[in-house]
Amino acid sequence: MSKTFYITTPIYYPSGNLHIGNTYTTVLCDTLKRYKHERGYDAFYLTGMDEHGKKIETVANERGVPPIEHVDALAEATRELWDNLKIDYDDFIRTTEKRHKSVVQKIFERLLEQGDIYLGTYKGYYCMPCESFYTDTQLADNHTCPDCGRETTQLEEESYFLRLSKYQKKLLHYIEAHPDFITPETRKNEVVSFIKQGLNDLSVSRTTFDWGIKVVSNPKHVVYVWIDALSNYISALGYGTDNDKRFQKYWHGDEVLHVVGKDILRFHAIYWPIMLMALDVPITFKLHAHGFYMMKDGKMSKSKGGVIYPETILTHYGLDELRYFLLRELPYGLDGLFTPEAFVERINFDLANDFGNLLNRTIAMINKYFDGEIASPSEPLDDIDQDLRETVTDVIRAYKENMNTLKVSQALQDLWRLVSRTNKYIDETMPWALAKDEAQKPTLEKVLYHLAESLRHIGVMLKPILLNAAPALFNQLGVEDEHTTWQSLSFGEKKHYHVTPKPTPLFPRLDVEVEVKKLRDEIAGKTQVKPLEPKPDTVSIDDFSKMHIVVAEIKTCEPHPDADKLLVITVDVGNQTKQIVAGIAEHYSPDDLPGKRVLVINNLKPVKLRGVKSEGMLLAGSNKERLEVIESHALKPGDRVK
Ligand code: ME8
Ligand code: MG
Repeated sequence: MSKTFYITTPIYYPSGNLHIGNTYTTVLCDTLKRYKHERGYDAFYLTGMDEHGKKIETVANERGVPPIEHVDALAEATRELWDNLKIDYDDFIRTTEKRHKSVVQKIFERLLEQGDIYLGTYKGYYCMPCESFYTDTQLADNHTCPDCGRETTQLEEESYFLRLSKYQKKLLHYIEAHPDFITPETRKNEVVSFIKQGLNDLSVSRTTFDWGIKVVSNPKHVVYVWIDALSNYISALGYGTDNDKRFQKYWHGDEVLHVVGKDILRFHAIYWPIMLMALDVPITFKLHAHGFYMMKDGKMSKSKGGVIYPETILTHYGLDELRYFLLRELPYGLDGLFTPEAFVERINFDLANDFGNLLNRTIAMINKYFDGEIASPSEPLDDIDQDLRETVTDVIRAYKENMNTLKVSQALQDLWRLVSRTNKYIDETMPWALAKDEAQKPTLEKVLYHLAESLRHIGVMLKPILLNAAPALFNQLGVEDEHTTWQSLSFGEKKHYHVTPKPTPLFPRLDVEVEVKKLRDEIAGKTQVKPLEPKPDTVSIDDFSKMHIVVAEIKTCEPHPDADKLLVITVDVGNQTKQIVAGIAEHYSPDDLPGKRVLVINNLKPVKLRGVKSEGMLLAGSNKERLEVIESHALKPGDRVK
């Protein structure tokens, strides 16, 4: 029976489109899963969405859609993104799914019955964009969020608490007894010193919003997001249900790995193991917390601009370019920078020049000198051949060691050591000179054979990383499947090569100036490729005619008392005056609007937006640069638009 490997990403918040930061974690896990699969593991890869919480509720409200509609759309867009990136996930959990909710409710009730959860009062400060609660002492100046610097809201409410304090000692002991539980080491040290300061019990429920999983025994509370979110790692496997085969197999299997960013280290290194201890579920997982990709101007956030989206890279360049850059550029244990210059250089130097060109030249020479066919040499090997072979052996060892310890950037550097060594081998052996002397033909064949074998080894190690280029390399070199496996990694294993007569370059060189400018514009949002949106459903005429769109004249307009992006508008819709809350404050000031005749949906169900009633919706169009309310000039208030 093969060993099992269970790997997870964080489940992402559907609060905006996913950027290359989230993509990094997902690609990293994908690569690790594929690598383990190559190594013969039965690997299971879980990812998904964390769909509850105040922030999601608010984002949905601002968009004027019910939360479930909002999260459905983003979950679909996310799956589509992962499919476009060929992410080989085995399950996609959404915390709004019944299979998850029922497990969370069970967990909560059990912890409550045991006394590990108790009812108390929560006092604190909440930062909505960060979804984080802080105590007085944790805040930055003027009660702002210590993480993002934005304003926080003060809260005092009844809340359930998880007794972290009770497990503090046990957890410390566990971490000390399992030195490789948390990597990198620096992160482990952060966790240890945090625990040593003493753990406060954790607030795990809220009464101030609805968009969450109800506490069964006290439904005015919803489970606050971390107990809900963390449970996904076992609810997806069927923990606590009749069908827990996957849980038995993978959670109790050989290797379990949670990969997260450093931002959520504490939740995974402290709350999650304590939850498991309280539930009597063994801590089988290891935790890896990687650093962050930053933009030149700082942090990437779904709610801020100035970021780069994976779709942009996919559209202008390609999947392998994206994967290679992300995996190569973030150093182990540290943060990395996404800059257009670095991106274009990596493609040009590493992929186009060093790697792509090597393949191209090799195939061209095998065609030119041997009509595309060469065989394993009987020639004696000289020092240069030996040195190349030793590099191959050494790189396989280093690659393996680095992949096993999650140092993927380092594994790629090692692999490129082989790429460089192979390029140097061409310079040293000078096949074009050998070709001039018929007597040297066997030596020339030996040289080209060494190039082909070296490339085959590079291809095998690239399989989990470059999803298009690795198969293309095998295809062009004429490598059959049996010689693309990890078991076939042994110099001389493939005896005979018959290469394609026409090699196609794997990575075209980019014009640095043009591409850097293009990427800069994308980041500035000027030409940003629209991130994939779920395809709209088709509607019938009947659907459309359900909407009463009428011409309305704007009478008054004021800022919303409680939300910067909203305006409160009164309109004359013919026979009546209505109040509408519109999210257009960033594009219009209140003085711009009175007197305009606009189009409104008149039969929209009234809602409250940040506490203010809204009885309709204004029609507006938008693109990246501007938003414009649609106006009518000759029609009168109340006239119907069909
Ligand atoms: O925290 N560089 O979701 P989230 C690298 N729902 N990785 C980054 C990144 C960056 N700039 N920005 C984000 C949540 N990430 C919770 C998780 S898990 C039980 C619940 C990645 O949408 C990184 O993996 O804010 C980080 O931990 C995660 O996205 C945060 O995603
Ligand atoms: Mg976040």
